[in-house]
Amino acid sequence: MNETNPKIVPFALRDAPALIERLLPVQKLSAEAYKEQMAVHGKTLTALGSYWKGRKPLILNKACILGCLLPATDDPARDLEVFEKLMAMDDESFVVRWKRRGKPREILAELSIGRIDAYFAVDPPGILPVSAPVDWSNPAYAKVKVAWRADLSEMERRRIEARLLPDLPYRDCVDQARRPEEVMDSVHDHIWGPVNAHLGTHAGSFPELVEQLGILRFGHRPRVADTFCGSGQIPFEAARLGCDVYASDLNPVACMLTWGALNIVGGSPESREQLAREQQALVQRVQEQIDALGVETDGNGWRAKVFLYCVETTCPQTGWSVPLLPSRIISKGYRVIAELVPDPVNKRYDIEIRTDVTERELKAAESGTIGRDSKYDEAYLIHRVGGESYKTKISTLRGDYLRPDGSTDNRLRMWERQDFYPRPGDLIQERLYCIQWMRPKRRGRGYDYEFRGVTREDLERERIVESFVAEHIAAWQEKGWLPDMRIEVGGPPRYQGLDLLKARGWTHWQHAFNARQLLTAGLVSEFADAAARLGLTQLLNMSCRLSRVDNSPKGAGATKGAFDNQALNTLFTYGCRASRYSLSGIEDSYKSFPLPSVTWCIRSGPAAQLHQNVDLAITDPPYGDAVKYEEILDFFIAWLRKNPPPEFADWTWDSRRSLAIQGEGEDFRRQMVAAYKRMGECMPDNGIQVVMFTHQSGSIWADMAGIVWASGLQVTAAWYVATETESALREGSYVKGTVLLVLRKRAGQHKTTRDDLAWELQEEVDAQVQALTGLNQQARGLYRDENVFEDADIQMAGYAAALRVLTRYAVIDGKDMAAEAIRPRVKGETTFVDGLIAFAVDTANQCLVPKGIPRAIWGRLTGAERFYLKMLELEARGAHALDNYQNFAKAFKVQDFHAMMASRTANDARLKGAVELGRAEMGEGSGMYQSVLRAVLYALMELAKNLDGDEVLRHLTLNIPDWYGDATQRDLASELAGYLAGQLKTLRPEEASAARVLRELVLNQRTG
Ligand SMILES: C[S@@+](CC[C@H](N)C(=O)[O-])C[C@H]1O[C@@H](n2cnc3c(N)ncnc32)[C@H](O)[C@@H]1O
Repeated sequence: MNETNPKIVPFALRDAPALIERLLPVQKLSAEAYKEQMAVHGKTLTALGSYWKGRKPLILNKACILGCLLPATDDPARDLEVFEKLMAMDDESFVVRWKRRGKPREILAELSIGRIDAYFAVDPPGILPVSAPVDWSNPAYAKVKVAWRADLSEMERRRIEARLLPDLPYRDCVDQARRPEEVMDSVHDHIWGPVNAHLGTHAGSFPELVEQLGILRFGHRPRVADTFCGSGQIPFEAARLGCDVYASDLNPVACMLTWGALNIVGGSPESREQLAREQQALVQRVQEQIDALGVETDGNGWRAKVFLYCVETTCPQTGWSVPLLPSRIISKGYRVIAELVPDPVNKRYDIEIRTDVTERELKAAESGTIGRDSKYDEAYLIHRVGGESYKTKISTLRGDYLRPDGSTDNRLRMWERQDFYPRPGDLIQERLYCIQWMRPKRRGRGYDYEFRGVTREDLERERIVESFVAEHIAAWQEKGWLPDMRIEVGGPPRYQGLDLLKARGWTHWQHAFNARQLLTAGLVSEFADAAARLGLTQLLNMSCRLSRVDNSPKGAGATKGAFDNQALNTLFTYGCRASRYSLSGIEDSYKSFPLPSVTWCIRSGPAAQLHQNVDLAITDPPYGDAVKYEEILDFFIAWLRKNPPPEFADWTWDSRRSLAIQGEGEDFRRQMVAAYKRMGECMPDNGIQVVMFTHQSGSIWADMAGIVWASGLQVTAAWYVATETESALREGSYVKGTVLLVLRKRAGQHKTTRDDLAWELQEEVDAQVQALTGLNQQARGLYRDENVFEDADIQMAGYAAALRVLTRYAVIDGKDMAAEAIRPRVKGETTFVDGLIAFAVDTANQCLVPKGIPRAIWGRLTGAERFYLKMLELEARGAHALDNYQNFAKAFKVQDFHAMMASRTANDARLKGAVELGRAEMGEGSGMYQSVLRAVLYALMELAKNLDGDEVLRHLTLNIPDWYGDATQRDLASELAGYLAGQLKTLRPEEASAARVLRELVLNQRTG
């Protein structure tokens, strides 16, 4: 350590609140997380397993980890600034994130700079003016060269360059910029001075900073656990930042992906070079064996790229064999279609492949031999013989019938362990109907492609592959190179895997692969080491009987992953990649982020079995029925379980469904409590946890509060980050984001009563809302004119404050909350916890005073008035999700908000304007009865209808109780008119101008 460096005193920050317990710039984080989610294949870890759904954005994970380590000081604005620098969210970082940096000449042309020579070296000197902007069109400057001064700090340089960036809202900036990790080498160069100055550290990199913060808080480099590690997004980010890592998951495929993240993407450059060599050798070895069979070439210089197969069956009405093609289009891009040519003698169809067809022919080929019943979307076979059309439901073809117990069965033969092809006589047959061939272009680079029908030679080659597989399957299964694992059907509501059995009679996972696919994958499996197993899973996903052919204009015969659709349902047609194409998935195409020297440990097992001490736990547990990992990943486990490489040998290669946390019911809560309790036990008293979950419904709050309570933890903050992709964002009401709950161990056995809680809740929620609103004001000064927090965030912070208060107590009204929280729910019952949460949420919502209404005025309004004014504020900002209306109606206790609504469409909800309200809602039964707002709206309606001003005012004085007796009623009316004038400006300009007029009328009214 340098003598002048500040001393890092172990535990100096032991009890400091964490930054994430006080603030988190959720708006900006949402924009960043969204950008990362949209990168799809550009994402850092996706190439390891594109089939894994629900990856938590790395940027979000980074924010959580740093947010736990950084202290919240008594200067929140500075805390926020430093945090944003670390997240590369500050203007100076955008200089580097921007696609290109401004050149000195451009800077001097655009910006006003007092002294050019303070920043730039000018050659020859003395020609340019003292200050910028410089008019470079002046011929005298033609030969002048300018460069940054060598002694200028990176920070100063970036500060100047940042002024050149366009002044856009943050989301747009992010949209146009690169992700921080794409410029990771240089984006943070300028931050360490101000970061260290604020934190009292002496770091020059993240690992250094993280280590120092770890020592300050925990006495050592922080250890981060993720016991639901999934694809490894959280452990990877933790390691990349410089934390030691403990990762575990019940599912071994998750462990394998996490292993890949840490060892491959995080591997050293040397290890990556070695990996590339090994994988190349593996591919070559497999390729040579397949080439030796001569089953992928046509003997004329063409090599197969994709083989297309379809199901074929006999039409019971005509006795014809009919290929089942939902569409006859093979490639829109190449304009290729399949033509069914009847062969009446053999009662079957030849399939001719035609290329370069006309637009009309392409259109006609959209319909094949599969139709869909519009009502139930049930598939049926349809074909024409002798001018007549024959239609048979697929369920009829299969012979579906009801068993006495009410379940359905059918007459398909169940496949046996070593089957890989339908047997003669099976109801469902399979047919190769087209091959896409490729050949290097005669001139230039690239390939020529051709789609061709199937020849006798092609069929002979098929038989060779089939014989080879038939000969080896038993031995290969024995050695574990090929699967022999039974398909276990999943539970409700999706019964994943059931379709494989019911629609095809497949009983084992190997049945989802044809002979060619078994051959290629089997050989890979034979030679694959740990790293290549990851490639194997990608290969299996991309080439199996569940791989769709992409016939779109861009698709050009490519096959898509089976996991593109989580249902894992059977297909009528599928694409089988020839070996060269499918083996390309094995070769190293992974990103590279060599990890700092930290330690990690990956275990397979239930979260409740954590057995290492850790300082932080950042987890993203399964919630609801989102993705049933334990059901769908058997597809891969079947291939990997028998002879795992040494690296994976300690893991249990089974999905262990009974231990998987799932659903939302009792079992879910019990298992979650076991997991989180254990995490608490493995942490020091100042350990911090962040739990991520998808916000689905209000009830989740009560659930999570219960789980936290019963686990002996308490909530210290909660945040909401929108992490979903654009299509979801557009759906308004259905937006899903991620809630982050920050937890600590609950200290002591505090008791309280419900009455005291009410006050405490009110105070805490109020304080939290005030704090964030205040920070917003400060942030506006600091940054562009932007909110750091929006209503929804502040509302969320209100919920958080509520949870914070509630989970502080072990006993409320004499009830042991840990027991109460996991008490079985009775359907329809509102539990004690539900009631407390609802109360807290309402309190939070009530704190959200619309901008432009003084708090004192707000306090005088009825619930219905508050509702109307609040919703109007949201509408003026373009928010129209029905959810909002429902939430606020609840918060303001508006019984019947429907009467105030012009539309209640999910994403296009809207209040009635003054004119639409007309004379309605004036009566005694209405929530607006005798309210000042209702009278004001009535007046606006009259003014909009051009009623005389004096007359309108006279009505107003009659409609507002005690107008002449209580002068504050008049003030209220004018305040409300002023507020409406502002909010309605763009929504309903006529009513806005009526409101302005009314305000004047009220202010100028002579009284007395
Ligand atoms: C929502 S996912 C985690 C996703 C991960 N954060 C990512 O970014 O990929 C939840 C994980 O919990 C695992 N899981 C389910 N039950 C479990 C249990 N009892 N113990 C440990 N892990 C479990 C699932 O296998 C799944 O990988």
